[in-house]
Amino acid sequence: MTLRTIVTLPDPVLRRKARNVTVFDKKLQTLIDDMIETMRDAPGVGLAAPQVGISNRLIVVEYYENDEAEEAEDETKKKVWALINPEIVKASEEKVMGVEGCLSIPNLVGEVERHEAIQIKAFNRHGQPMKLKVSGWLARIFQHEVDHLNGVVFTDLATRVWFPETEEEKEDRV
Ligand code: NI
Repeated sequence: MTLRTIVTLPDPVLRRKARNVTVFDKKLQTLIDDMIETMRDAPGVGLAAPQVGISNRLIVVEYYENDEAEEAEDETKKKVWALINPEIVKASEEKVMGVEGCLSIPNLVGEVERHEAIQIKAFNRHGQPMKLKVSGWLARIFQHEVDHLNGVVFTDLATRVWFPETEEEKEDRV
């Protein structure tokens, strides 16, 4: 596995609408493995292919699978997802505010309103269809990553942004 370079604004690849993935080959598997390694190294909890300079609809996420594991900070309950051509097919009416950071905008964090829960349709790394229901912080991560595939970054949506003052504010970037 190879660490990829994370691109930052104003790189135009971050503003492009990414293409659907249509071929599930060895090159794709390598890219997914590299993205997971790059996300862990950053460190971050999510990464979209445009963030490593590749305009394809592919995201990886690594986070606690449920609220109990998140509260207990039980690292062993973290799960990795690789989603190809993800589509948000359902979103809760309820929205929540939260503070987000992005590996491609390293100097800012901001307050963004997101759906509390979503349903996602996607393909797994082998091209098999899958459906996913997520809520809370995990739902926020997925919404942030899917935005990256459409050329949208969190500062476009934020009600306010600021320079992070503590290490805690820089945690869990996506
Ligand atoms: Ni991001």
